[in-house]
Amino acid sequence: MQHPPILVIGSTGKTGRRIAGQLADLGYPVRYGSRHSSTPFDWDRPETWPAALVGAHAAYISYFPDLSFPGAPEKVRALTQTAAAAGVKRLVLLSGRGEHHALRCEEIVRQSGLEYTLVRAAWFAQNFSEGYLREPALDGVVALPAGNVREPIVDVDDIAAVAVAALTEEGHAGKLYEVTGPRLLTFAEAAAELSGAVGRSVRYQPITLDQFHTSMKEIGGDVIADVFTGICREVLDGRNASLGDGVQRALGRAPRDFADFCAAAAGAGAWSEAA
Ligand SMILES: NC(=O)c1ccc[n+]([C@@H]2O[C@H](COP(=O)([O-])OP(=O)(O)OC[C@H]3O[C@@H](n4cnc5c(N)ncnc54)[C@H](OP(=O)(O)O)[C@@H]3O)[C@@H](O)[C@H]2O)c1
Repeated sequence: MQHPPILVIGSTGKTGRRIAGQLADLGYPVRYGSRHSSTPFDWDRPETWPAALVGAHAAYISYFPDLSFPGAPEKVRALTQTAAAAGVKRLVLLSGRGEHHALRCEEIVRQSGLEYTLVRAAWFAQNFSEGYLREPALDGVVALPAGNVREPIVDVDDIAAVAVAALTEEGHAGKLYEVTGPRLLTFAEAAAELSGAVGRSVRYQPITLDQFHTSMKEIGGDVIADVFTGICREVLDGRNASLGDGVQRALGRAPRDFADFCAAAAGAGAWSEAA
């Protein structure tokens, strides 16, 4: 008998795309969950949720844009209830390290009555190659309100591998995996390592939270600026300057180093202008 499908929410995103790909490579039927998938899933349209969940054995939950956004806990709670009613057995939540709003959502998933695994991730390496820091990296200046704080930047391939293990294997239920890279880096050090990979000089520019808020407001307006400034205030204050053992515990191997990410992303053309 064929394995029932696994729903991947955010299936075109940085984590979800990799998770869907790894699941498909392992032979699992994948139900793609984004606003544009054949069974659409839209966080803002709860009427789309039942069809995406019914018949699925497990679901990977990445919230967009971030669990710190107003309304996220209510939506995550409603999703867990819809999942339970739809017969889903297992939930894997992507959470953010050091974010108190994310803790609230973790607790909702813990209390869902379903099998769950929490994947609490550090700063993504792929923010520099696929996310909102790609353009600044190409322009040669990465400006963040991070001072000299050290961050255990994690490769999203490792997050995906941990999530896939939790979605498909026994032994991960009830676990919290703090998923980080193997090394603490200041953003100045990260920028120096990026320089070689991007093919031009990349430097880190420390800015204040107010300056960050102003720049975010220009890009996305008040709510985006408020929420992302709040996230930076929390996660870049030094509380995350320690390594987590989630990759080792979940996969039995060390996480991938930022230098290896840089080499692999450069090799894949992440910073060629057309990418
Ligand atoms: N970046 C970091 O350093 C970091 C660290 C820790 C945790 N996180 C967490 O990572 C999560 C984001 O995951 P990601 O980076 O893998 O995603 P992402 O790259 O930001 O991609 C977003 C995904 O969500 C989908 N999407 C957008 N709007 C949606 C909506 N209204 N309803 C349903 N789907 C929607 C997009 O597909 P469509 O456009 O096709 O709908 C896409 O698949 C956030 O919750 C964040 O807190 C990030």
